[in-house]
Amino acid sequence: MKNVKTFKKMKKDGQKIVMVTAYDYPSGKYVQEAEVDIILVGDSLGMVILGYEDTLKVTLEDIIHHTKAVRRGAKETFIVADMPFMTYHLSIEETKENAALLITQGGANAVKLEGGKPSRLEAIRAIVDCEIPVVAHLGLTPQSINSFGGYRIQGKKEVEFNEILSQAKEIEKAGAFMLVLEGIPEKLGRTISETLSIPTIGIGAGKFTDGQVLVYHDILGMADFKPKFVKNYAQLSKDIPNSINKFSREVKEGNFPAEENIYNPIN
Ligand code: KIV
Repeated sequence: MKNVKTFKKMKKDGQKIVMVTAYDYPSGKYVQEAEVDIILVGDSLGMVILGYEDTLKVTLEDIIHHTKAVRRGAKETFIVADMPFMTYHLSIEETKENAALLITQGGANAVKLEGGKPSRLEAIRAIVDCEIPVVAHLGLTPQSINSFGGYRIQGKKEVEFNEILSQAKEIEKAGAFMLVLEGIPEKLGRTISETLSIPTIGIGAGKFTDGQVLVYHDILGMADFKPKFVKNYAQLSKDIPNSINKFSREVKEGNFPAEENIYNPIN
């Protein structure tokens, strides 16, 4: 299994790192079969699996439940589990306990949390101190949509650009081993990636980050909407209902089950 050292070396060697989300046994299995470097059990599961409008209602129990299933499908892949909204905000004790549960019960190898202000740096330091590797996440962090006033690209203005760059440097100092950069201008993604020695993984952060991450359902064309940074490599949102409709038609027309689908007595 790849590990924190492998990812650091990949950055040093200029080898791109691929991260893909997974949420259950089959997606874990398929993502592992595709030989991606890292699986993220993202709180995006609130939207793509549970049908919520955003990620804010996802609980620690949700992430543990889904991480366990992903681990059963992907025994050999490094798994990062997302810390949901308000599971690393209240106290350092609770933060450490919640991070530990994602490892001990969920079976993750590392945790991810959003933001770079001083209280988040303290959370990163406390979790790292428990020997739990931390991935940080800056830019358009979905757990902050209410304070951002919606899904808005971050770091376009000079003051925001400098703030995010400065938070990225502090995150590295706090001990995170990787940084996800979401929804920022390419220039900022490049500057951070060239400044830090830890790998950066981009999603809507341009092509100069040390790796890229996409949501499983976006790769497969299963999501309801497609932001600019997404590329669909399949169109399952059409193939799935078409296949089920074909089954339904064959049943109604008496063409399913066919001879090969029927058990007969042994002669
Ligand atoms: O929850 C998630 O899927 C994420 C990625 C978009 C980085 O945080």
